Amino acid sequence: ENIGTIVFENSTEASKAVAKEIADLIKAKQAKNEFCILGLATGSTPKGLYAELVRLHKEEGLSFKNVVSFNLDEYYPMEPDSINSYVFFMKELLFNHVDILPENCHIPDGTLSKEAISKYCREYEAKIESLGGIDIQILGIGGNGHIGFNESGSLKNSKTRLVALDHITRVAASGDFGGLVKTPRTAITLGVKKIMEAKRVILMAWGEGKSNIIKEAVEGTVTNQVPASYLQEHNNATFVLDQAAASKL
Ligand code: GLP
Repeated sequence: ENIGTIVFENSTEASKAVAKEIADLIKAKQAKNEFCILGLATGSTPKGLYAELVRLHKEEGLSFKNVVSFNLDEYYPMEPDSINSYVFFMKELLFNHVDILPENCHIPDGTLSKEAISKYCREYEAKIESLGGIDIQILGIGGNGHIGFNESGSLKNSKTRLVALDHITRVAASGDFGGLVKTPRTAITLGVKKIMEAKRVILMAWGEGKSNIIKEAVEGTVTNQVPASYLQEHNNATFVLDQAAASKL
């Protein structure tokens, strides 16, 4: 096990620390006239991080003009203007409140025809590669150990692709969609390979409800049953936890 873990008093303090690391890298890249490539996540976990990044922009003048972002995933099918889309989520919580250029924000397209998806996914990865790869990848963790929508069984070299969502993932999302029958069965997700290629990975988790899966991911066997456990084999991955999520370690 070589995952670093950092435990904070609460998620607010933890989110501030992650925001500071991101802000420092954005500024260091600005000084060198370089883009900063961020891999971004959705779900409830990164909300505090995005709030702190917005605050740093509004109150401390942090600019996102040199930031290029790639979100991990999107439901499929999904219209971008739906309130359940990750496009909507990212605009509401971050993009609409900072000076990131719209053309620099990438989120998998939930409106493609089925036939168009695999080519689109190859291009999504090629775009990341052409920019030199992801500088910081932000992750949450699903109750089953998924990262992005790489569910149990996802291989370490898996590519960006259309995936079937686990029942447990759909149940977790069903509240947002007004019931399980209305919850998407599939999603497009960045593959494990690109996540593992990120220069830095920060997985955040809050609350007692995540404590068992955090223990498995950090201390358990590296297994495709718990895709977050692959991060044990990453040379610069840190799990940023609150006390409750770390309570079983
Ligand atoms: C969804 C997202 C994941 C996220 C997970 C956990 O499945 N696709 O990226 O990590 O939810 O969600 P939460 O942060 O709300 O616990």
